[in-house]
Amino acid sequence: MDRIRIVGGRPLVVTIAVSGAKNATLPLMIASLLTEQTLVLDNVPRLADVALLQRILGNHGVDVMVGGKRPGDSLDAGQTLHVSAARIVDTTAPYELVSKMRASFWVIAPLVARMGEAKVSLPGGCAIGTRPVDLLIMALERLGATIDIDGGYVIARAPNGLRGGEIVFPRVTVGGTHTALMAATLARGTTVIDNAACEPEIVDVANCLNRMGARISGAGGARVVVEGVAKLSGARHAVLPDRIETGTYAMAAAMTGGDLLLAGARPEHLQAALDVLTHAGARIDVSDAGVRITRNGAGLSPVDISTAPFPGFPTDLQAQLMALMTRARGTSRIRETIFENRFMHVQELARLGARIQLDGETAIIEGVERLKGAPVMATDLRASVSLVIAALAAEGETIVNRVYHLDRGFERLEDKLRRCGATIARISA
Ligand code: UD1
Repeated sequence: MDRIRIVGGRPLVVTIAVSGAKNATLPLMIASLLTEQTLVLDNVPRLADVALLQRILGNHGVDVMVGGKRPGDSLDAGQTLHVSAARIVDTTAPYELVSKMRASFWVIAPLVARMGEAKVSLPGGCAIGTRPVDLLIMALERLGATIDIDGGYVIARAPNGLRGGEIVFPRVTVGGTHTALMAATLARGTTVIDNAACEPEIVDVANCLNRMGARISGAGGARVVVEGVAKLSGARHAVLPDRIETGTYAMAAAMTGGDLLLAGARPEHLQAALDVLTHAGARIDVSDAGVRITRNGAGLSPVDISTAPFPGFPTDLQAQLMALMTRARGTSRIRETIFENRFMHVQELARLGARIQLDGETAIIEGVERLKGAPVMATDLRASVSLVIAALAAEGETIVNRVYHLDRGFERLEDKLRRCGATIARISA
């Protein structure tokens, strides 16, 4: 199994190109199931999760063609996928595949909307909590699907098609909103989704669906209205830049000091995180080129924040901020309100010398003078990258084990960091 070796102490300088967003790419690929025509996706990141979803969709009969690299193309240019679900051969998504990637459960929506039936395995628990799918099921029921749960599978049926309805989410759910949107595009009549997730990835998917002929209005707000259409067509769409990758490298630059341009980043997609970084003592400059982050000399100030749905501080940057705050001058408090048990990184950060106490859903981080390198274990995607951030500022060598978690969500992480000055290398098993 691959490991990553990092020797801390080098500032990050010059430029990192931001990749396309994983959390938009996955639902966009899944949306291809809604049409028999080809969906062309540009700026797709090269990630293990994308490759895995390709396999999962392949099981339903979806053909994914990856555009080749042309001479002169830079590694930073994303890939182009031609995704074609001309003929769906199987409406079952088996446990072996869904359990590997939770988001693949979302295929249930386009499958039942287009084929009138879907049988999708319940995803099961994961490292960051129970993560149920009850609200996704509720949304499909509101659109007229009948649901049975049998042998660990959710069976959704709508033999005469879905019909528009009112969906009120009792809590904000990204997956629930994606599912409701996709299903409603092909339902007869109007669907109103209330308390919808407002994440930029929802807007990106809605924009793509509208290009495919859907009639969605209000995406990005709490109320989204969808007028169902009989059929969707193919389209071409470029995936938006990854705000979590942007925020992660911004935290890394704030951690190490230096002067780093995050090329292509969209600051309005992570304003809450940029505000926290400014408060902590980094300087943020926004231009057409992206987001530039500098921190020279001055120490870091502690913060007191809670994670929240967009536009609040994202749970997907919580671990990274915690790594940064291990070096602040004073005590920080970080409250995790979205996922229980999303503090797997705490014990590993402690191995590097961090002082963190947990009190229910709050982590209390007492900043320390220095971190010291050690072997650590990656536990989930965002937790793993928090260890990388801490290691970049730790004295001596850190070995991060189980890096497949990083490969799921960060494109060429060690390459990007090495090119801006970090001492980092992959040790292949
Ligand atoms: C998505 C993101 C993930 C991010 C999360 C929150 C993708 C591929 N993943 O995950 O990176 O951390 O949003 O921003 O886009 N919940 C229920 N019942 C449900 C569904 C969710 O109780 O049926 C709860 C969850 O347990 C959680 C909260 O709602 O506590 C939010 O989850 P949700 O927004 O649905 O997260 P995901 O879509 O799984």
